[in-house]
Amino acid sequence: MATITKEITIQYKPHLKQAEFHKAVDRCRFTAFIGGIGSGKTKAGIAELLRRGLMMPGGFGIVGAPTYPMLRDATERTFWEMCPEELVVDHNKTEHWVRLINGFEIIFRSTDNPDRLRGPNVSLVYLDEASLMPKQAWLISIGRLRERKDWRFWLTTTPKGLNWVYEVFGKEDKDRATIRVATHENPYLNRDTIAALEEQYVGDFRRQELEGEFVAFEGLVYPMFREDLHVTSGEEQYKYHVGGIDWGYTNPTVVLIAGVDSDDSIHVHYEFYRSHVTLDALIPELRQVTAKFGVERYWCDPSEPDHIRALQQAGIPADAADNAIVPGIMDVTSMLEPLNDKPQLTLSPACANTIAELKQYQWMRDRNGQFSKEMPVKVNDHGCDALRYMVRSWRQGRNRAPTIGVL
Ligand SMILES: Nc1ncnc2c1ncn2[C@@H]1O[C@H](COP(=O)(O)OP(=O)(O)OP(=O)(O)O)[C@@H](O)[C@H]1O
Ligand SMILES: [Mg+2]
Repeated sequence: MATITKEITIQYKPHLKQAEFHKAVDRCRFTAFIGGIGSGKTKAGIAELLRRGLMMPGGFGIVGAPTYPMLRDATERTFWEMCPEELVVDHNKTEHWVRLINGFEIIFRSTDNPDRLRGPNVSLVYLDEASLMPKQAWLISIGRLRERKDWRFWLTTTPKGLNWVYEVFGKEDKDRATIRVATHENPYLNRDTIAALEEQYVGDFRRQELEGEFVAFEGLVYPMFREDLHVTSGEEQYKYHVGGIDWGYTNPTVVLIAGVDSDDSIHVHYEFYRSHVTLDALIPELRQVTAKFGVERYWCDPSEPDHIRALQQAGIPADAADNAIVPGIMDVTSMLEPLNDKPQLTLSPACANTIAELKQYQWMRDRNGQFSKEMPVKVNDHGCDALRYMVRSWRQGRNRAPTIGVL
């Protein structure tokens, strides 16, 4: 039988650190590409997927991202940007799978319900932004790796404190490689973008978000927050739902929705966390989730009364929140503190960005370098703010009338 060969070009020229990452995957079964934001992590992760998938005819690979919006907007989007059409023989965008020309199949999954990763045996696992995933995602996905002897696992991520990614990849060993890359080491990134980021991030956040270092955050606002205690799958039924909104544009706009239990504990199970969203784009999304969950009221950042009115005029039950910082933090703290091992405030893994923020939300230092406990650092605090508005205002005035009327 004649063999047909065909040349297909993938438009990708790795930068220095990306090249190091690809070499590491050749050498080791487990590789972590740990980098600053925009350092070229996802692009390298997808390039590796195409390269290695083509070496494994008839094989199977899983690609994971922390939440469905991140999967759709970053990881899967990069895949479709990079994968030449001629490489794909079949795909289903709603079911999130692709079959390549050599029979290699890729399935894309969000890891907010890690049990969904159970299923077929696979030969490749790639987790994008793995630091935002629960440790279960790593444990379950590596349990699937047995289809072929030359199986590989790699992840790409910006670090988020000293979590499981640090435990597993903080130290190298012979079967595990960690390649680090800083944002400024991506030569394809616009210099103005880098300068803008460097202006925005300082201190520990800068080391983590731009240098890609594993950083232990001190002076935490919520030191009692523990993933094993506060991140749970929640219940099926709630008495009612409440929401919190922090407005952004360059910074993300965050919407959180929580279910209130019969014992008045709350479980935050929905997170909308996106930059560059206009009110016109937000309102239909809010209408849909409000109807879906029956949200009684959204407690919103009061600094944008026009936004609150716009929601009210669109029939969305929005109201100005109490935004007093320290009292709000105290309310959240008291709900996080476990009573008989059970906290009154829990979050679903689907709230990946807010969970990451809670773990590194820090007090500002005063002139003497001490943590003041009066004002938190105003970086990466958008989910924390939405949570605080919701918890404080909900606890304060459960039956209070709206303060801003419909015009
Ligand atoms: N080898 C490359 N060739 C051309 N462009 C690249 C390359 N690597 C990265 N880029 C570009 O740099 C930008 C950032 O890349 P990418 O999205 O992969 O980074 P990231 O680290 O995953 O970012 P984020 O932190 O936002 O997830 C993108 O515009 C991407 O197209
Ligand atoms: Mg990325």
